[in-house]
Amino acid sequence: MDRRVSAAAVLCCFYLSLECCSCHTYVLNDKEGLGRVFDGIGGLSGGGATSRLLVSYAEPYRSQILDYLFKPNFGASLHILKVEIGGDAQTTDGTEPSHMHYENDENYFRGYEWWLMKEAKKRNPNITLIGLPWAFPGWVGHGKNWPYDYPDITAAYVVNWILGAKQYHDLDIQYVGIWNERNFDSKYIKLLRYTLDKNGLEWVRIIASDNLWEPIALFLLNDSDLSSAVDVIGAHYPGTTTVKDALKTQKKLWSSEDYSTFNDEVGGGCWARILNQNYVNGLMTATISWNLVASYYEDLPFGRDGLMTAQEPWSGNYVVEAPIWITAHTTQFTQPGWTYLQTVGHLAQGGSYVALTDGKGNLTVVIETMTHDQSVCIRPPLPPFNVTSQNATFQLQGSFASIKELQVWRSQFNVKTKKPSFFENITPLKLLDGSFTLNLAEDEVYTLTTITTGQKGCYPDPPPSARFPNVYKDDFRVENPPFSEAPHFADQTGVFEYYINLTDPGPHIFTFRQVLTQRPVTWVSDADQTISVIGDYQWQNLTVTCDVFMETIKAGGVFIAARVDKGGQSVRSAKGVFFWVFADGTYKVTNDLAGKTVLAEGQSGTRAYGWHTLSLTVKGQYASGLLNGYLLWKNAVVLTPKNGWAAIGTRSFELAQFDNFAVVAE
Ligand SMILES: *[C@@H]1O[C@H](CO)[C@@H](O)[C@H](O)[C@H]1NC(C)=O
Ligand SMILES: *[C@@H]1O[C@H](CO)[C@@H](O)[C@H](O)[C@H]1NC(C)=O
Ligand SMILES: *[C@@H]1O[C@H](CO)[C@@H](O)[C@H](O)[C@H]1NC(C)=O
Ligand SMILES: *[C@@H]1O[C@H](CO)[C@@H](O)[C@H](O)[C@H]1NC(C)=O
Ligand SMILES: *[C@@H]1O[C@H](CO)[C@@H](O)[C@H](O)[C@H]1NC(C)=O
Ligand SMILES: *[C@@H]1O[C@H](CO)[C@@H](O)[C@H](O)[C@H]1NC(C)=O
Ligand SMILES: *[C@@H]1O[C@H](CO)[C@@H](O)[C@H](O)[C@H]1NC(C)=O
Repeated sequence: MDRRVSAAAVLCCFYLSLECCSCHTYVLNDKEGLGRVFDGIGGLSGGGATSRLLVSYAEPYRSQILDYLFKPNFGASLHILKVEIGGDAQTTDGTEPSHMHYENDENYFRGYEWWLMKEAKKRNPNITLIGLPWAFPGWVGHGKNWPYDYPDITAAYVVNWILGAKQYHDLDIQYVGIWNERNFDSKYIKLLRYTLDKNGLEWVRIIASDNLWEPIALFLLNDSDLSSAVDVIGAHYPGTTTVKDALKTQKKLWSSEDYSTFNDEVGGGCWARILNQNYVNGLMTATISWNLVASYYEDLPFGRDGLMTAQEPWSGNYVVEAPIWITAHTTQFTQPGWTYLQTVGHLAQGGSYVALTDGKGNLTVVIETMTHDQSVCIRPPLPPFNVTSQNATFQLQGSFASIKELQVWRSQFNVKTKKPSFFENITPLKLLDGSFTLNLAEDEVYTLTTITTGQKGCYPDPPPSARFPNVYKDDFRVENPPFSEAPHFADQTGVFEYYINLTDPGPHIFTFRQVLTQRPVTWVSDADQTISVIGDYQWQNLTVTCDVFMETIKAGGVFIAARVDKGGQSVRSAKGVFFWVFADGTYKVTNDLAGKTVLAEGQSGTRAYGWHTLSLTVKGQYASGLLNGYLLWKNAVVLTPKNGWAAIGTRSFELAQFDNFAVVAE
């Protein structure tokens, strides 16, 4: 026998009977009052572009994915959907379009977050919706990378988004944040509260500051006006703990962004521990996963850090990962508005338990015994913990003393002899005098509940996984595009949208246009160029062809590219093979997006306000380029990168159009 277990057993047997080794009794009771009100478990779409590929799934797969996420009593049954208020800038895995690219511009149909919120609400009319900006269009900051110099402009911009949600989509945004993981400004927060109220949005609550517990907690304590403006302290990756000042504010405490872990079984284990221990250790009453669904190219930063994976719209393949079922353990048996009992805590041999009630006699208990190495879990890592198998006896008292039977749902990770199992409905427990004992092994999650409506939803297996097609074309000829973006293009700096030019004589009425004309108030280091990537990151040998149209005289420039090796917050240092033409009549071939490593250059005769056809072929170590069907340059030597995405883009934040995009890869 393991030394630690036998030591614990001796200790335990001293207090209890001889048969009961390594056991402990936990009382679940509401006699002394209850704990905090539960606000729900959620997922975050955005920060940024994390749902980009989801929208392009064909039916029925797209609806199936949405059901696994949002449909009550089916899968994750999420209580909360938080989305990015698109700000036109790179926010981790891409850019999301703003509702106001320019000061005099308003459009509440861009991007896919509106659609996602409506799909979520269709499935769960009670879902809580949250909006948060990561970035802002450049005009909001008057050209400075700072949104608080003109707080009235920033507040009006954010309030417009909330009003637009209601007016155009009948969506009630219940909570709004300040500026994701960046500085807050007390004056701005108060002005945001004032602007919300002035627009009849008194019921919209403010979360601050989507960063650490401090300094916001201290500011709330010493500024009563600020305190009355803010309803929730939202902390990111709190590692399950909070701080004294945050508790002193008496505000709701939320983990408004958490998880961010590769979504295999280990990730599922991290999530199970977070969901329980955020309340046990930190009294947090809501936890939101970054991200909702991994629907972005896996080679972008934080690939597969979502509750499930849906990154292949071209094949229809998706994967319902462990975190979906771990979420279900809590979400299917509780609702926002339920209340935690005060009797929650750690198990004697490691792990934790929480209990919640609807106040009408229903009880849900969630137990986890996760051993997974904390170093793979979250930032910052949790303190060390040890878990061993144990017998745990729960004694129900108070309103729960007369409960006779509990439904049992179990997940088992790390099972040595058989496959892990998730969210199994096993034989109900019969209670004797309100008491029951569980033999808990390592790496298990149990839900014990009076709620009988739980279900493990399922659909037939989706189509098998497949690589991005090697021959791909888009002429952007869509009369009423359901989304502003063309399928599979993932903007990494700038925003690319469908465009219709009705005065065009024919061939280029329908195009794809880069629409930003100014650098946004950024969240990370966007490139100075704009770029949208597409395809298979493993592509090596391929031909990319595209018609291009510059709209900036003399200074304008556009490119097509292959083997682009970086996106997300590293987009500035992207390398690849970039074939540029400029409105001053020249061309260039560079090994990087920044345009510093020149492989070839010369005259092209290209100009603004005329269409040109570019074609780039890369094979092995050599690249060549055609302009309007004629060879312009050849034998440019490309040693690295060896592979990467195809891409289109512009020299600066300038208008430009693209048409008849095509890739033929080997
Ligand atoms: C929404 O909430 C109301 C009130 O709490 C409840 O009666 C109703 O069943 C809920 N609807 C769904 C679909 O969960
Ligand atoms: C509150 O405390 C912070 C941090 O010490 C300080 O910067 C701020 O000025 C204080 N505000 C008020 C209203 O006292
Ligand atoms: C529990 O909740 C269900 C609805 O899910 C309700 O019908 C029942 O009355 C509640 N109370 C108890 C003690 O089960
Ligand atoms: C966990 O176990 C390791 C090795 O068995 C030990 O060094 C460590 O102190 C234990 N941690 C706790 C919190 O008990
Ligand atoms: C749990 O109790 C059972 C008997 O009910 C016993 O066989 C087992 O060894 C106990 N497990 C632990 C870890 O104490
Ligand atoms: C639209 O098409 C007309 C006719 O070809 C052209 O002159 C004009 O520049 C185009 N405008 C834009 C914005 O593409
Ligand atoms: C790309 O082409 C080079 C040169 O022909 C060849 O060595 C390499 O294997 C090709 N790569 C792929 C993935 O086909």
